[in-house]
Amino acid sequence: MFKRIFEWLIQPLGLIAVGIALLALFSLAAYGLYATQQPPEQPIQFPHQTHIAFGIQCLYCHPGAAKGPSAGIPSSAKCWACHNQIAKTQTSALLAPLKQAVESGAPIEWVPVAIVPDFVQFNHRAHVAAGQNCENCHGDMTKVTVAQNPQVFNMGWCLNCHVKSADDDQEKLVKLSDCGTCHY
Ligand code: HEC
Ligand code: HEC
Ligand code: HEC
Ligand code: HEC
Ligand code: HEC
Repeated sequence: MFKRIFEWLIQPLGLIAVGIALLALFSLAAYGLYATQQPPEQPIQFPHQTHIAFGIQCLYCHPGAAKGPSAGIPSSAKCWACHNQIAKTQTSALLAPLKQAVESGAPIEWVPVAIVPDFVQFNHRAHVAAGQNCENCHGDMTKVTVAQNPQVFNMGWCLNCHVKSADDDQEKLVKLSDCGTCHY
C-alpha cells in the first residue's frame, strides 16, 4: 500500500501534486504571517499622522506612559474636547462614530495592537524615565494612520535591548536579564 503511494508520488504527475501541496502550505504560512503584521480593523480610522502633524504630543493622548505601566488610549471625551470645536467634525464620515459615541456615552472599542502576554511585566514609566523614546519601540508614528506593530514584542527583543543598555555595568546586566525582572 505505502509502496504504491510512494511509486505514484515519484512519477511526474505525483511530483507535481507534491509541489502543489507544498506551495499551498507555504502560501498559508505566508498569509498567516502577513495577517499578524496587518493593522486590525478599528472602530474609527484614527489618523496618527494628522494629529502629530498638528503638534499634539504623544503624552497628551497617552499620559500613562510617563506615569505607570500602561500608556492608555484617550477617552472619547478627550477627543471631543477638541473635535467639538472643529468644523470638519460635523461633516466628516470618519468622525461619525466619534459623534455617536459621545451622544450615546458608549466607549469606543479600540482593538489593541501593542501587547505582551499577561505573564510579562512591562512598565512604560521605567523605560521613559531611562530616556527611551516612543519611536524606539513603536516605530515612527508620524507616518501611520491606524497604529500597527513595527515588531514582535518577544523575549529576545526585550533582552537584546536590555543587554545593550547594561553595557559594561555587571550589576545592571544581572538585574535586566533576571527572569524575575519580567516574570513574577
Ligand atoms: C490625538 C491623540 C493621539 C496622539 C497625539 C497620539 N496617539 Fe497614539 N493612539 C491614539 C488612539 C485613539 C489610539 C487607538 C487607535 C489605534 O490603535 O490606531 C492610539 C494607539 C496608539 C498605539 C497602539 C496602542 C494599542 O495597542 O492599541 C501606539 C503604540 C501609539 N498610539 C503610540 C503613539 C505615539 C508614539 C504617539 C506620538 C508620536 C502617539 N501615539 C500620539 C491617540 C493618539
Ligand atoms: C488637540 C486636538 C485634537 C484631539 C484631542 C483629537 N483630535 Fe482628531 N483632529 C484634530 C485636528 C486639528 C484634525 C484635522 C482636522 C482637519 O483636517 O480640518 C483632526 C482630524 C481627525 C480625523 C480625520 C477627519 C477627516 O475627515 O479627515 C479623525 C478621524 C480624528 N481626528 C479622530 C480623533 C479621535 C478619535 C480622537 C480621540 C482619540 C481625536 N481625533 C482627538 C484635532 C484633535
Ligand atoms: C521600551 C519599549 C517601549 C517604549 C520606549 C514605549 N513603549 Fe509603548 N509599549 C511597549 C510595550 C512592550 C507595550 C505592550 C505593553 C503591554 O501589553 O502591557 C506597549 C504598549 C503601548 C500602548 C498600548 C497599551 C497601553 O499601554 O495602554 C500605547 C498607547 C503605547 N505603548 C504608547 C507609548 C508611548 C506614547 C510611548 C512614549 C512616551 C511609548 N509607548 C514608549 C513598549 C514601549
Ligand atoms: C529599546 C530598549 C528596551 C527594550 C526594547 C525593552 N527595554 Fe526594558 N528597560 C530598558 C532600559 C534602558 C531599562 C532601565 C534600565 C535602568 O534601570 O536604568 C529597562 C528596564 C526594564 C525593567 C525594570 C523596571 C524597573 O522597575 O526598574 C523591566 C521590568 C523591563 N525593562 C521590562 C521590559 C520588557 C518586558 C520588555 C519587552 C516587552 C522590555 N523591557 C523591552 C530598555 C529596553
Ligand atoms: C526583559 C524581559 C524578560 C526577561 C528578563 C525574561 N523574559 Fe521570558 N518572556 C518575556 C516576554 C516579552 C515573553 C513573551 C514572548 C512572546 O509573546 O513571544 C516571554 C516569554 C517567556 C516564556 C513563554 C515562552 C513562550 O514562547 O511563550 C517563558 C517560559 C519565559 N519567558 C521564561 C523566562 C525565563 C526562564 C527567564 C530567565 C532566564 C526569562 N523568561 C527572562 C520577557 C522576558
